[in-house]
Amino acid sequence: MKEPYYKAYEKRYQAVFSAGAKRWGHSPDDEVLYNTLKSWVEENNLQGKRIIEYACGEGACGVILSELGCIYHGVDISPSAIEKTKKLLEKYPNATVEVLDMVKESVKGKYDAALDCMGFHMLVTDKDRELYLKNAYSALKENSPMLFFRESYRKDGTYHGIVISVEEWAQITGEDYKTLQSRQVKNSHDGGVVEVLVPLLPARARDKNGYIKEFENIGFKVEKFIEMDVSTAIPHSATIYVRKGKIK
Ligand SMILES: C[S@@+](CC[C@H](N)C(=O)[O-])C[C@H]1O[C@@H](n2cnc3c(N)ncnc32)[C@H](O)[C@@H]1O
Repeated sequence: MKEPYYKAYEKRYQAVFSAGAKRWGHSPDDEVLYNTLKSWVEENNLQGKRIIEYACGEGACGVILSELGCIYHGVDISPSAIEKTKKLLEKYPNATVEVLDMVKESVKGKYDAALDCMGFHMLVTDKDRELYLKNAYSALKENSPMLFFRESYRKDGTYHGIVISVEEWAQITGEDYKTLQSRQVKNSHDGGVVEVLVPLLPARARDKNGYIKEFENIGFKVEKFIEMDVSTAIPHSATIYVRKGKIK
């Protein structure tokens, strides 16, 4: 995979949308997602507060957080996903989005909270993961929470070495990230299914200690680590609640 990361995501969204599929990722109707965000917003008094969502995709969390009364800003590397999210959020005056590479770019201003829903695990190299977490950390006000929802997780057997490239990761995992695979996705018109041909995209699972170490290295305090039930979105995942501690 020599081409830049973002092209693979952009291509996948384009394939999904041009096949007439409703969406690829999370829906605002996902009950577990909705309940998790609702509790998180209430516990942290985030109504009326500024929340940044990294890797926002097609805007499911943007809808939920706007309905819950938050001031929302979503960023994603894929222009097609951002276009779709922009339309979806049109009716919420406090919601904005922008195309941004969360590894290489930082957002303007400071936020009261940050969210990542299946975004962090898509970064496989140690360097990209660290750069992203540092960006997210510095976008937050002191003592602000960040929520990582449904990140790829294994109890054990994860790779503990340093990964320096996607090519190396493909060798380590033995996964094929090139061949197109058939996936069934819901149709936007009648709710039936359409076939989409897309390659598997690289993702990196961690065990509990692996995640905790990564967050603590940046300065985040890990407050809660929840193993999630199997879902249609991902078989094995964890939801992790962290908070910005003292500036490093
Ligand atoms: C598994 S999808 C999750 C999307 C959405 N959060 C959801 O749950 O439906 C991963 C998302 O990460 C985005 N992404 C990957 N690398 C990124 C980067 N470097 N900067 C910003 N977004 C990125 C992709 O475009 C994609 O929308």
